[in-house]
Amino acid sequence: MTYDDLLAISMPTIQGKSFMKTLSPPNHQWLETADGSFTLFSEAFQEGCHSSSGAREETLLHYVQGCQVEKKILTDTPLSILEVGFGLGIGFLTTFDVLNKMDKPWSFLSLEIDQELLEWFRLENLHHPFLKDLKWISNRLECHNEKIHLTILCGDARKTLPDFVLEKKCTWNAVYQDAFSPKKNPILWTQEWFAFLKSHAENDVCLSTYSASSSIRKSLLESGWVLHKGEKFGPKRTSTRATLTGVSDPDILLHLERSPTPALRDDNFPSLLSK
Ligand SMILES: C[S@@+](CC[C@H](N)C(=O)[O-])C[C@H]1O[C@@H](n2cnc3c(N)ncnc32)[C@H](O)[C@@H]1O
Repeated sequence: MTYDDLLAISMPTIQGKSFMKTLSPPNHQWLETADGSFTLFSEAFQEGCHSSSGAREETLLHYVQGCQVEKKILTDTPLSILEVGFGLGIGFLTTFDVLNKMDKPWSFLSLEIDQELLEWFRLENLHHPFLKDLKWISNRLECHNEKIHLTILCGDARKTLPDFVLEKKCTWNAVYQDAFSPKKNPILWTQEWFAFLKSHAENDVCLSTYSASSSIRKSLLESGWVLHKGEKFGPKRTSTRATLTGVSDPDILLHLERSPTPALRDDNFPSLLSK
């Protein structure tokens, strides 16, 4: 399916009433984006959850298409998506709309620090065909049917994900790296974070993100990821895809060699990392 085919799919859950007419969650405001879909502005991070050029289109391009989930679901390895930053759930809802018609199993594990945002999402979706069964189990929201398994870990991802992986021994072969920007949310872009994501990734993993900053590309490279150019979206000229096989794009490597910007490291943000 091409990007245009994906855009043509109607997505009432994103463009319809649940994302337009309700009260915004605490400490967030609604923002309309250029494709008519809505995103949220976070007061805590002072940033919008998506590009103002289009929340839905950005999600389709960078994550659904960027991680090639429609192709991956057809292989013998079960599709296992990790999303860094659940936000208002557009990543999950868009993936659901694209994959739900397929008769193959898939899992979606997401990470979110804001409990009120998650509870708002649960209440917003009490009539959704799948999400109506979303339930709190300790510090996570979960629901599943015969095909789909959704888990959202509530709390600081730097703690919740390692704990969960230790307990469940899970791995992933698609990563939607969708934290706030490296400036606002640096601990989810460090070399140590990407090394952890790599250590539990399948060999065929694809990590995709909207960011193309030299610092995050260096964090990825120094933790062993192979770098590729991603699609352009809105005013940004490019984005980043990363794999564990193949060779890095020579233009990216040359640019990074010349750039004085260092990789992001945990040591630079001691006060942001929970004990
Ligand atoms: C850009 S938004 C994600 C948008 C989302 N993917 C969507 O499609 O709606 C980033 C999210 O990451 C969350 N976040 C920031 N720091 C976090 C942390 N340390 N652990 C878990 N979630 C975090 C924020 O609360 C925010 O909701």
